[in-house]
Amino acid sequence: MLDKINRIRAEIGNFKATTQVELEEFRLKYLSKKGQLNGLFDEFKTTANMQKREIGQKLNELKGLLTETFDRFKEEIDQHAAGAASGNDLTRPGDALSVGSRHPISVVRNEICDIFRRIGFTVAEGPEIEDDQHVFSALNFPPEHPARDMQDTFFVTRNPDILLRTHTSSVQVRVMEKTAPPIRMIMPGRVFRNEVVSARSHCIFHQVEGLYIAENVSFADLKQTLMFFAREMFGEQTQIRLRPSFFPFTEPSAEMDVSCTCGGKGCNLCKHTGWLEIMGCGMVDPNVLDNCGIDAKKYSGYAFGMGIERIAMLKFSTKDIRMYFENDVRFLRQFIPAM
Ligand code: PHE
Repeated sequence: MLDKINRIRAEIGNFKATTQVELEEFRLKYLSKKGQLNGLFDEFKTTANMQKREIGQKLNELKGLLTETFDRFKEEIDQHAAGAASGNDLTRPGDALSVGSRHPISVVRNEICDIFRRIGFTVAEGPEIEDDQHVFSALNFPPEHPARDMQDTFFVTRNPDILLRTHTSSVQVRVMEKTAPPIRMIMPGRVFRNEVVSARSHCIFHQVEGLYIAENVSFADLKQTLMFFAREMFGEQTQIRLRPSFFPFTEPSAEMDVSCTCGGKGCNLCKHTGWLEIMGCGMVDPNVLDNCGIDAKKYSGYAFGMGIERIAMLKFSTKDIRMYFENDVRFLRQFIPAM
C-alpha cells in the first residue's frame, strides 16, 4: 500500500489543470466515490493492525494533498472564468504606458552640473525675483549702466529695486555673502531679459554660473577648468579659444569659443568662422569680493556663465530657441531616451 501512496504522490506532484475538464478528470481519478483514494481506504480496512498506524497517517496526508491540489486549481480556473465572463480577456497583453522624459534643457543642465561635480564643484541656487543690489550694484555695475534700464530688465513692481534677475551672477553674490572661501560652486537657473523673442533669443532662458574663490587662483586655472568642461561636453577633440571681452564684475574678462564640428572648414552654424561662442568668464573683480565681504588681498577667483539653450542648440542642432519653450510634444518626443 505504501508503494501505491507514493506513486500517487509522485503523479500529482507535477499536476497542472488549466481547464474545468482537466480538473474534473483529476477529481474522478482520485477523489470521486470510485476514485483511487476511496480504493485505498477500502484496502486499508484489511491492513494488518501492526501497520494501521503508519499507513493511516500516510493515507490522511495523501487525502489532504489531493483536496488541497484540487481546491487550488479550482480557485484559479474559477477566477479566470469570472474574468472572461466580465468581458476582460486576461490573456491580452497589457496596454503600453506612455513614458515621459526630461525636458532637453534639464538634460543639458544636468550634464553640465555632472561635469563640474566631477571636479569638486557643488550646486547652489538663488531666487528669480531679485533686488538691484544682487543683480547689479554688488557686481560693480555703475548706476548709469544700460543693463539697469527698462529696455533690458523686467521690473516686478513700480519699485525699481525689485526685478527679475537678468543673469545668474546674482547667485554668486548671495553665495559669497554667506560662504567663507574656498568656494567652488555652480549655480544653474532661469533668467529674464526684456528682449524681442526671435529664433536666436528669448526673454526667458537658462544659465549656469560658475564661481571659484581661493588663495592664488589664476587665469590659467580658469582656462584649464573650461577646457576640461568643453572636452567633456563636446568631445575630446574640442579646442577652446578665449577672446578679450568686458563684464563689470570680472577683470580681465573673456568670452570663450569652442571649435565647431565642421572642423574649421566653415559652416552655417559657425557662420564660416570655425568657432562658436558659448560663455562669458573672467577673474572676479576685487571690488566684487569687497562688496561681498571677502578679503580681496587674500583671495582671488574666477567666474563664468553660460547659456543652457545655447549649448543645447549646439548639441542637438536646433535652429530655433523658441522650440524649447513651446512644449510641442513632437519636438519633446525626440528626447525620450531609448529603452
Ligand atoms: N553674467 C554674464 C552674462 O549673463 C556671464 C558671466 C558670468 C560673465 C560670470 C563673466 C563671469 O552674460
